[in-house]
Amino acid sequence: MELLELMKYRRSIRKYHEKQITRDSLQKIIEAGLYAPNAGGGQRTFICAIHNQELCEKIGKLNLSGFDRSRLAGSYVSAEQPSIIDDPAIKNGFYGAPTACAIFSPNNFLYSIPDAFCCAENMVLEAAELGISSCIVARGEETFDNETGSCFLKEWGVPSNYTARCFVLLGYCQGAYPGEKQRRPGRYKIIE
Ligand SMILES: Cc1cc2nc3c(=O)[nH]c(=O)nc-3n(C[C@H](O)[C@H](O)[C@H](O)COP(=O)(O)O)c2cc1C
Repeated sequence: MELLELMKYRRSIRKYHEKQITRDSLQKIIEAGLYAPNAGGGQRTFICAIHNQELCEKIGKLNLSGFDRSRLAGSYVSAEQPSIIDDPAIKNGFYGAPTACAIFSPNNFLYSIPDAFCCAENMVLEAAELGISSCIVARGEETFDNETGSCFLKEWGVPSNYTARCFVLLGYCQGAYPGEKQRRPGRYKIIE
């Protein structure tokens, strides 16, 4: 698919099959993340790919454990692919995805958060190119800010001065893949 066409096709998927993605596909998606633009060319992000459905289930629950719904009044995300904002019955922030990549970056660096999300964007585009569904998920910080979470970080060898910023969920869409989403008008201007 041509790149712009692929960007229009890619959607955030929140209903996943149990089918796991291959290690080879995961490797390519990680590589795409590693090649993302990054502040000062520092290549600071660290990706921890959880290629294990059971573990994703556990961490997905941690991702939602500190979620505060009371500040969401009026928010709405998607009817086709409801998010935790739309459906309070969803108890797992990873929506049953069999793979989730946590993206970490250093604590004391001005562009840590943008670096992590640039990385995530490259990854979801590569996933779409490979026919793999994805979703960027926030609340990386809260997910590991508890005893269970910090045990995982130690076990995975995440540097102690690094914090999770977001996740990229990966898997195969259960049901129909949503169509292209219309863009709100008036969101750009070209100055000659
Ligand atoms: C910074 C950022 C944070 C996001 N966090 C979440 C999240 O925590 N949970 C979720 O289900 N989707 C999350 N998303 C996905 C957005 O909800 C999604 O991109 C948006 O609704 C547009 O839909 P589309 O990706 O299908 O075009 C996030 C996206 C971005 C860019």
